[in-house]
Amino acid sequence: MTASPSFDRPADLLDSVDGCFQTRFNHTPAGFWSAPGRVNLIGEHTDYNDGYVLPFAIDRRTVVGMRLREDRLVRIASSFAEEAIEISLDELIPENLHGWSAYPLGVAWALGRFGADLKVAVGFEAFIDSDVPIGAGLSSSAAIESAVAVALNDLWRLGLDRRTLARVGQLAENRAVGAPTGSMDQSASLLGQADAAVFLDCRSLDSEIVPLGFQAAGLELLIIDTRVSHSHATGGYAARRASCEAGAAMLGATSLRDVGVGDLDRARELLDDETFRRVRHVVTEDQRVLDTVRTLREKGPIAIGALLDASHVSMRDDFEISVAELDLAVATAREAGAIGARMTGGGFGGAAIALTPQALVPAVTAAVLAAFAAAGYAAPNLFTVHAADGAGAVPA
Ligand code: GLA
Repeated sequence: MTASPSFDRPADLLDSVDGCFQTRFNHTPAGFWSAPGRVNLIGEHTDYNDGYVLPFAIDRRTVVGMRLREDRLVRIASSFAEEAIEISLDELIPENLHGWSAYPLGVAWALGRFGADLKVAVGFEAFIDSDVPIGAGLSSSAAIESAVAVALNDLWRLGLDRRTLARVGQLAENRAVGAPTGSMDQSASLLGQADAAVFLDCRSLDSEIVPLGFQAAGLELLIIDTRVSHSHATGGYAARRASCEAGAAMLGATSLRDVGVGDLDRARELLDDETFRRVRHVVTEDQRVLDTVRTLREKGPIAIGALLDASHVSMRDDFEISVAELDLAVATAREAGAIGARMTGGGFGGAAIALTPQALVPAVTAAVLAAFAAAGYAAPNLFTVHAADGAGAVPA
């Protein structure tokens, strides 16, 4: 079995998955697996540029109950939709997958590209529930993919390591869901550890665990979910990725990972203004990830605030992926006492993070709610998250 992480049993979710599984399938599941959502502390739109990211797994999780069948049928159901989905493994190709089921079924398909023999595999039944908010930029989709990946890795006895399972989840997202995303989200969900971030080199996929120590420093990481919904399978995300690839090509680089801060003067001369600003975001963001890792190690989390702020400005002005609600959340949180704040995730909506002294969490929350009301925006959802362990089998 995949090594069991030491997270608390997510009791409510487990009970609900257990009950719903039995109602749907008239059996008990063979076991339960769970995987967390993630927050990206810093390193945005760097993953598909072969760069650096520093996300952490959060204490919001997806739970899947699963059981193998003796035939080739796959039956899955979830709390996301009324209908159960049935499909034979013989028909499991990305073109046949739609809606929420593209995430779990996309993983089953993608495992076939990483060693599972789908021509002889047996089907399965699965029920999925989650308390990772959907559409908040906290990777509810990667949580589903990672939970299903560890479950099938165990039940199909594939023996794949976590780094490979992250690539499986990314492939499912790219091909079955149709979102051209990088590997950050699945890596965070699979590799996370309590009270620590995952420092991932997206070129080599090497990772290091970096202790965060927020609680010990008297800090909380406050999520401000603007409730402005976003999708990375449409428009802006793919356009940003295309700009980065065009910029790298114009600079004669394989990817923007190979362009440094010292190359930006030359880039300004060679590129049109928009492409230059896209490139400048990625190049400076990679540097900010390295600076954040070093600062955390040498000085602790209280010293990273300015790096978070600079990341937001870069995404707002150079990469242009923020929205008015995110800018207001960030500015208001900072004025009310957060030591650093930025939008997190792919952008165009979703959530901001605000690193906040524990005693100021109520004041920051109240200030953000008041500012949104005054601006006529829908009320945001504010809550704190803690860095948690990555995906694995739920201990019996
Ligand atoms: C989304 C994608 C990730 C990453 C971020 C931006 O979360 O899924 O791969 O590109 O956006 O940093």
